Amino acid sequence: MANADHYVGQMIGRVEHFSIPCSDPEHSVSFYEAVLGAKVFEDEHGPHTFGISESDKALGRPIHIFMQLECGQRIELLKLDTGRTQPAGTHHGFQIGPNDLPAIMAHLDSLGVPFWGPGRHKGTNAVSIYWKDPDNNQFEFVILGGYPDFDNVPLSQHMAKPPIDFRWDAEQRRAISNLAPAEAA
Ligand SMILES: [Fe+2]
Repeated sequence: MANADHYVGQMIGRVEHFSIPCSDPEHSVSFYEAVLGAKVFEDEHGPHTFGISESDKALGRPIHIFMQLECGQRIELLKLDTGRTQPAGTHHGFQIGPNDLPAIMAHLDSLGVPFWGPGRHKGTNAVSIYWKDPDNNQFEFVILGGYPDFDNVPLSQHMAKPPIDFRWDAEQRRAISNLAPAEAA
């Protein structure tokens, strides 16, 4: 029998979506709208906000809401398996352009969303900052080469990692620090 691996590789077009465990997906929608500019995905069937209607509940569907990024890929906010400690290091990275970092950092600052970095990675041209959502899911904005100030970026192992916990105020659409004011300073 021929090895089909080659053809499987060609069939996969891209990563279409990945799921994010959220304690309250409906609450988290505004976070992902504000931070990533994602929008609740909608097609001829209507918005993909599942597990909320009475008929979906009767089917036992967990709440899961698909949101689409400008670049086309989707994220799925999934109320399942939340509140557990995730395997250490679990995170997802979003690529940004080499000159986008100042604007991205200002954007996170304007929302009160704390982050670590920028940091670079030994043996690569990548520069990253790291941030979390209100459920402690971890994310990265990563530049894959061409960062203008690359030589002055510390290794990620050396970058400062202050506490970055917060809760999300969906009405004000901004992060509220969980830390006492002295700790947050
Ligand atoms: Fe990463």
